[in-house]
Amino acid sequence: MAKVKSKWVCQNCGYETSGYLGKCPDCSSWGSLVEELSAKEIKPAFLKFDKLSDSTPQLLKDIKLDENIRYKTGIVEFDNVLGGGLVKGSLVLIGGDPGIGKSTLSLQSSGSLAKSGLKTLYATAEESGSQIKMRSERLEVNSDNLYILPETNIEEIKKGIDEISPEVVVIDSIQAVYSGNISSSPGSVSQARECCSILMNIAKNNDITIILISHVTKEGVIAGPKVLEHMVDTVLYFEGDRYKSYRLLRTMKNRFGSANEIGVFNMEDKGLTEVTNPSKLFLSERAENAVPGSVVIASSEGARPILLEIQALVGETSYPSPRRVATGIGYNRVLQILAVLEKRVGLNLSKHDVYVNAAGGINTQEPSADLGIALAVATCARNVTVDPSTVIIGEVGLSGEIRRVSNLEQKINEAKKLGFERVIVPESNLPIKNKPENIEIIGVSRLIEAIGKSISG
Ligand SMILES: Nc1ncnc2c1ncn2[C@@H]1O[C@H](COP(=O)(O)OP(=O)(O)OP(=O)(O)O)[C@@H](O)[C@H]1O
Ligand SMILES: [Mg+2]
Repeated sequence: MAKVKSKWVCQNCGYETSGYLGKCPDCSSWGSLVEELSAKEIKPAFLKFDKLSDSTPQLLKDIKLDENIRYKTGIVEFDNVLGGGLVKGSLVLIGGDPGIGKSTLSLQSSGSLAKSGLKTLYATAEESGSQIKMRSERLEVNSDNLYILPETNIEEIKKGIDEISPEVVVIDSIQAVYSGNISSSPGSVSQARECCSILMNIAKNNDITIILISHVTKEGVIAGPKVLEHMVDTVLYFEGDRYKSYRLLRTMKNRFGSANEIGVFNMEDKGLTEVTNPSKLFLSERAENAVPGSVVIASSEGARPILLEIQALVGETSYPSPRRVATGIGYNRVLQILAVLEKRVGLNLSKHDVYVNAAGGINTQEPSADLGIALAVATCARNVTVDPSTVIIGEVGLSGEIRRVSNLEQKINEAKKLGFERVIVPESNLPIKNKPENIEIIGVSRLIEAIGKSISG
C-alpha cells in the first residue's frame, strides 16, 4: 500500500513543512498551517509543458508575429486595462471583494467575445446553470458561441475544454475548483496552485485565453499563494465602494501592457456600463457655488487623470483632544499637512476637530492632492472659499514648499476638458510644454502664497 504522505502548508504564503508549527517561519502569520494529505505521487502540472519544451531555438527575426494576437472584449474600458484586448493564450487573474461584480464583468465580456465570433466557455464552480441563465437574461447576454459549464472538478473542466475547443475560457472562481489529484479541500493553497498550473498548461499549449476569477482576503490581496500571481500573465483588481455604483478595474501586473491602467465602470441593473468621463462622475454632486472647505484636485489613477473634490470640515472641539478623521485619503498624510499649516502658515488647529473627505468614495494616494487638502482645511477654518473654477495641484513639503508633481500636462488638459478656468500648479513645474490654450496657469512655490492666490472674492 502506498504510504500516505502528509505535509503542513501555510494557507497564507504556501510554505510547506512536515510537522505542525503555530507560526509560519516564512510569512510570520499565526495558525495558518493546515495539514494536507497526498496519497498519490503527483507530478506538478507545470512540468508538463509539451509545446514549450519541445520547441527548438529560433532566431528572433524568424519568429512570425501573429496579427490577430489580441481579442477585443468589446468593453472598451476592459480592453484598455488589458493593454488593448485579451492576448491569445494568456492567463488573466481578476480579483475582487465578494459581490463587487467579478462574475458580472466576466459574463458580460464572455457574451461580447462570443458575439464577436469567438467560441467561449464560462465554467462556473459557484453557481448553477440556471442561476447563470438568470443573470445572463438580466444582463442581456446571449450568443450561439457561449457555452456554460457548471463544474467544480478541474479535470472535468479540462475534458469540457478538450470537447469544444474554445478560444476563451472563464473560470469562476479559482478558489472553488479542485483537482482530484490533491486531497486537500478546494480553496487551499495546494489546490489553487495545482488548478492554476493545470490551467496554465492548457492556455500555453493550446493558445486558449483563460480568465481566472479569484477571491481576495480581508486585507484585499488575492487569496491563496503569491505564486498564483507569478504564474499568470495579468493581474487585475476589481474594486469600488459597495455602497456606490462605480467600480474601478486596476492593473497590478501585465506582461502585455502597461501596469498603470485603470478602467471605470458603473454598476446598473443591466450590468456594468463604461464610464468614459470619470471626472464628470466624481464631480457631479459638487455644489455650484463656492463653499468653504471644498477644493477640486487632479489625481492620477494609473496613467489617467481624474478630477476629485476634497472636502474639509473644521470646527471647535468639545473633546479634550481634537479629532482628526480622513476618508479616502491617508490619515498620516492629513496629519502631516495639518502640522505644516500650523507651523508654516500659523493656522492653529489644536482646539479644532478636522474632517477631510475625498468625495465620491474614491481612495486616493496621489501626493499632488496635498495642496488641495491644505487649502480645503485652511478655507474652512477661515470661512473663505477657493474659486470654484480653479483646480489645485501640488505636493506640500514639510517646510511649506510646493514640490513638483508628475503628469501635470495631462492633469491640466483634464481640467480644461471639464471647463475649469484656472489651475494652481507648483512653480518648479513651469514652464509647461504644450500648454493648452484658454486656461490660466498660476505657479506657486510656498503654501502661504498658494493660499493667497487661490482664495476668491
Ligand atoms: N437585479 C440587480 N440589479 C442591480 N444590481 C444587481 C442586481 N443583481 C445583482 N446586482 C449587482 O451585482 C452584484 C453582484 O455581482 P457579481 O455576482 O458579479 O459579484 P461577484 O464579484 O461575482 O460576487 P461573488 O464574489 O459572490 O462571486 C451585486 O452586489 C449587485 O451590486
Ligand atoms: Mg461571482
